[in-house]
Amino acid sequence: MSVVPYHQVKELIESGAKEYVRQFDGVELPRIKIERKGKKTSINFGIGKDADLYKVVNVFVQTIGEMEIGGSGMGDLQLKYDKAYVYVDTIFGNSVRLSKKGDLTSQEIDAILGAYKIGNTVKEIRTPRKRLLELGITIYDSNDGFSWDYIAGYEDVKQEIRDAVLLPLQHPEIYEKIATGTRKKYESVRPKAVLFEGPPGTGKTTSARVIAGESEIPMVYVPVESIMTKWYGESERNLAGVFDASSDLGDALVFLDEIDSLATSRERGLYEATRRVLSVLLRKIDGFEPNDKTVLIGATNRKQDLDPALISRFDVSVYFHLPNLEERVEIFRNYAIQLSDADLERLAQESDGISGRNIKDVCEHSERRWASKLLREHESADLPPLEEYLVSLKTRRENGI
Ligand SMILES: Nc1ncnc2c1ncn2[C@@H]1O[C@H](COP(=O)(O)OP(=O)(O)OP(=O)(O)O)[C@@H](O)[C@H]1O
Ligand SMILES: [Mg+2]
Repeated sequence: MSVVPYHQVKELIESGAKEYVRQFDGVELPRIKIERKGKKTSINFGIGKDADLYKVVNVFVQTIGEMEIGGSGMGDLQLKYDKAYVYVDTIFGNSVRLSKKGDLTSQEIDAILGAYKIGNTVKEIRTPRKRLLELGITIYDSNDGFSWDYIAGYEDVKQEIRDAVLLPLQHPEIYEKIATGTRKKYESVRPKAVLFEGPPGTGKTTSARVIAGESEIPMVYVPVESIMTKWYGESERNLAGVFDASSDLGDALVFLDEIDSLATSRERGLYEATRRVLSVLLRKIDGFEPNDKTVLIGATNRKQDLDPALISRFDVSVYFHLPNLEERVEIFRNYAIQLSDADLERLAQESDGISGRNIKDVCEHSERRWASKLLREHESADLPPLEEYLVSLKTRRENGI
């Protein structure tokens, strides 16, 4: 059996544990404490409440070999071999302790790391991120690289979002200071729930990703429809699970997209479910703790269909209007950079009343048609000219969309 000097023992165990913990992305696992007093080495770590003690003990037996097994029969176990003892304790906190006179062997180090992993298994330490992924929810992070450039124009809307959502998250202390100075009884003045409303295709969903990109705060993106199921009780359990996991993330934005799916379903089974989900949502908004850092954003293009009780819970409402003339110029510019200012102006004039999504569709349509023209060699220019876009706009109008 190979003996390992103490300083290496520490290094091996610490790096082994670190590597294991890393895969759980931020979850706090018990630390392994390693000590040397005189000749005695002792190692101590916590294990999960539901850990399988038989398996933990078995790791030692399998890796180290013969040992005597004893204990008081009240949940503690003692393994004795050579000059060493291992205690597996479930009475005074769940922990494992190995103490030995002298240096450890590499087998003992393997056994400790093995027992640590089995005692702190993946199943019981599911991270909030894992729980959300299991519910089919996406998390957007700032490294997705989405910025305000994705939404052309809309300076007023961007400013409102900065004021209502981003600033309070980035400087909570200022808001708290004001509230402590002004209120008889302390209440947080930070908005807890913000509503994004406006016609289809005006950038509400896109702004979720932009906010995640700009805020450095994870954005839990929940397409409401995806959590609705016909199974009794499941939809509201899903939603409650989303809120719990999000609040375990610490700072988080929860974006409930298309919350009108809560208002519309007349389908049997789902009708009842929507009522129950709605009530979970209302209770959640009401119950947000003052120090709960979660901010909820709800998006809808059918505010009129939403339950008034829900609408009244939103502190702030941001309206995504259809783009005006200058904004249409800017949006066209995002999707047809080859065109001149005059061309873009012309397109904007011809496209009154259409949304950013429509503009994007028109541009994509023009590009596709141009590509097939090129392939048939009817054209020699690389990029579609103004006329192509005008044709697409005209087709759109004639089809009444
Ligand atoms: N101002 C804009 N600038 C650039 N692109 C835009 C703009 N507005 C919308 N778009 C584009 O249109 C598409 C649709 O936008 P988005 O899905 O965000 O709309 P929405 O408001 O969520 O619509 P809905 O109410 O139907 O869900 C996206 O690809 C987006 O990039
Ligand atoms: Mg949307």
